[in-house]
Order: sequence, then C-alpha cells, then structure tokens
Amino acid sequence: MSNTEVLLLLTLLNESISIPLLEVDFGISKLKSFINKHRSNLIVIADKHTLLDCYPLIDADLQHFIVPYGEGYKNLNSCEYIWKKLTDLDANRKSIVLCLGGGVLCDMGAFASGCYLRGIRVVLCPTSLLAMVDASVGGKNGVNFMGFKNYIGSFKEADYTFICSDFLKTLPAKEIVNGHVEMLKHGLIASRDHYNAVKIFFFNPKREVNQDLIAASIEIKKKHVAEDFRDLGVRKRLNYGHTIGHAIESWSLAISEENKALSHGVSVGLGIIAESYISNKKTGLSNDDLDEIVIVLQTLVKDLENEMPNYSDIKHYLSKDKKNEDHKVNFSLLHSIGECTENHFVDDELIEDAMNYLLSVK
Ligand code: GLY
Repeated sequence: MSNTEVLLLLTLLNESISIPLLEVDFGISKLKSFINKHRSNLIVIADKHTLLDCYPLIDADLQHFIVPYGEGYKNLNSCEYIWKKLTDLDANRKSIVLCLGGGVLCDMGAFASGCYLRGIRVVLCPTSLLAMVDASVGGKNGVNFMGFKNYIGSFKEADYTFICSDFLKTLPAKEIVNGHVEMLKHGLIASRDHYNAVKIFFFNPKREVNQDLIAASIEIKKKHVAEDFRDLGVRKRLNYGHTIGHAIESWSLAISEENKALSHGVSVGLGIIAESYISNKKTGLSNDDLDEIVIVLQTLVKDLENEMPNYSDIKHYLSKDKKNEDHKVNFSLLHSIGECTENHFVDDELIEDAMNYLLSVK
C-alpha cells in the first residue's frame, strides 16, 4: 500500500470512529456541538412548521431555506426547487445539508442532496416521532412519482443522524399517534414485549412519549437494515402493514384536498388491520392475536372522517408495490404477534376479503 493510500485509509477510519453515524442522545447538546463545529458548511432545509418550532431550538443562525410542507409535495418538483436553492446558495462539495423535519422532508432532502453535485453530505434531524423511528435509519431516500409512494429514490445512509426528543414537545398529538403506529409495527414483526409496551399509548394518547421505547424501536429497525440493506429479504418485514397501507395512502392523496389525506400512520394502521386478516387466513395468526390487534387499532379508525377505500380503489396502487414479483402482490405476514416472515404472494380474492373486513371494522 502506498503512503497516500495508508493516509486515506487512516483518515476514513478516523472519521468513522470519531463521529458515530447515529446519535440517539435524546438531548440536543450533541446536535448543537455538531452545528458549532460545522457551522460554515451547513445548510438547513426546514418546512414552515419546523422553521417556527424546531429551528429556534437549535439556536442557530445558519444558512437555511424551507420546502413546502406535506406528503403532496414529496415529488421531483420539490427536488428541483431544492437543487435551485442549493445552487443559489453556492453549495459545494464541502457543504452539509441538515434536514430538519419529518419523514417527507428527511427522505426528500436526503435524496435531493444525494444527487446534487453527484452527492453532498447529509445530516438528518428527524423532528417527528415517526421519522425518529423510521426515516432516521436505513438510507431509503426518495420521492413519490406518478402517484406511487417513494418510487424514485436511492439507498444511501445519511452521514449523521441526531435523535433529539426535545423536538417532540412541539408535535401535535396526531403526529405522535403516527409514530406509535410505526412502533407498534416494530413490536408486531419482532417482539411481543415491545408490542405490549407500545399498545398502551393507543388507549391513553396523552401518556408521555417513552424514550426507551423509541430506542428499542430504532434497534429493531437497525437490526433488519443491517441484515438486508437493499431490501431483498428480512428488511421487507419492516413493510408489514405498508403494502395495503401505502396503497390506501396513495389513493387518499389522489382524492383529497391539500394536506387533508389520511396520514401515513393512520394508513399503515388500516393496512395492519387488513394484513393481519390476511395473516390469519394464510400464515396462522391466531384469532386471539387478530382480535387483539384490531381492538388496539380501532382506537385510530373510530373517529376518522375521511372516506375509506374499497378494494377496487386501491387495486391500481397495489399493482405497483415495490415488492411485487411477476405481477403478484407480495406481503410480509405475521405468524403470531412478534413473528413475521416475508415473501407471501396473495391472491386478489383474499386481498378483497381483507379490505371488506377492514370496512366492517370501521
Ligand atoms: N420503512 C421501511 C424500511 O426502511 O425498510
């Protein structure tokens, strides 16, 4: 090895040792010291909510701009807007984009930054509970395309992620519920204990968010990603409830006024009910477990005012699910609460039955 190669290797090793990728610190001090260290290179992307509620908490006087808020703006037009803003701000290869927002902003900001000048550094500061337990880990960056969820994107982990629960204090209750649905899913696919601990929040939404449970959810996500970064095997289990959930969310986005569509969390909650019905018919999820899951998630759907889709409304979206193979819809399914496997191809009739079941539960 030449001296230059040794130097390069040492620099790389040194960088990866001195600053861990994921800071689950819950306070805000590590983020603040990171900001102070890199202040001159940082560009913050926020939205109208995080600019008001979160940006002041990092006490920063940084270059920043906002992108439009909401799932309806998770698209290539917004990426083009980000690229124009970065160009106007003279962002260069030393720049670091700090994404200060929820899942939409983190997924899209990371994707756009990953393309700008063929890729500049990205730091994620998820500000919603959902983004802390999902978008924070795993490098799935991207945007919706032609009405399909996250159809254009990349796999690339952020350079750093800071989990700071101070941001949660500014979050509306319905956003906390969205995060708890994703955490419940982590329990469903990997740990009955975690499921039992998270389900309590559905009956008592005012209960304070629990940091140990957030950390446990992140660990479950990290474990699946570490085994299967490219989403070819076990990582598909993280998609439990999302096959039907994403189809419901896409349908709702297409028919609703701006920011009035079913949220990601509620859509996935509905997807979990339908996919638990399929699990009951196909992979041996017991009647008791199915009833239990439905009782927990009924708390989400009972007050919903949004229109609910039937099977024919979501068929088109299911046909483009990213896990599909040979035009067959591919599900991850439960055997019991805490045990899930991937790659179950399900007939249209059973999916239709599951959607009818979902409508009967509502
Ligand atoms: N959100 C599912 C995954 O990261 O694989």
